[in-house]
Amino acid sequence: MKILDIGTGRGTMAIMLALKGYHVITGEPEGHDWADWRSSAKKVGVENLITFKHLNAEQLPFSNSEFDAIFVYVSFHHINDKISALKEFFRVAKQHGIIVIFELTPEGVEEVRMSFPSHANAVDPRDYTKNTSYSLNIIEHGNINAYIYKKS
Ligand SMILES: C[S@@+](CC[C@H](N)C(=O)[O-])C[C@H]1O[C@@H](n2cnc3c(N)ncnc32)[C@H](O)[C@@H]1O
Repeated sequence: MKILDIGTGRGTMAIMLALKGYHVITGEPEGHDWADWRSSAKKVGVENLITFKHLNAEQLPFSNSEFDAIFVYVSFHHINDKISALKEFFRVAKQHGIIVIFELTPEGVEEVRMSFPSHANAVDPRDYTKNTSYSLNIIEHGNINAYIYKKS
């Protein structure tokens, strides 16, 4: 399985995948390295399963149809050009590959705003996936929804 994680942050998603035994390529734009994901990965013994690369979701440095799965864990609403980013996710996903976008719900955003009042609004990825060929399964879970796209 070739797996890509968009928006490394604290490494929550990449580390969870690595703990399941997967090799993960993860990244975020240069200058965005705000969290020490490496120490956390080291602590739980999975640093060797995670490869970090500077990247911008809006123009990914990968070939067409490279990945079996792409994970975007509460990063989508931080990306400026969401339409380009989604096009890129579908471009680099293999046929029948999955794109899993975890996004805060409006209720989730309200909770985050108790600590970070200027946090961005909730985003529904379905508003940005017109004209793309896929099937979609949504798992609703209170403050966070998982949008699981499968490339047709
Ligand atoms: C809330 S954090 C993500 C948390 C992370 N996914 C985790 O599992 O811990 C949001 C991330 O989105 C990243 N980001 C913002 N714009 C981006 C872009 N254009 N391409 C890739 N990542 C981006 C930021 O660098 C930031 O780390």
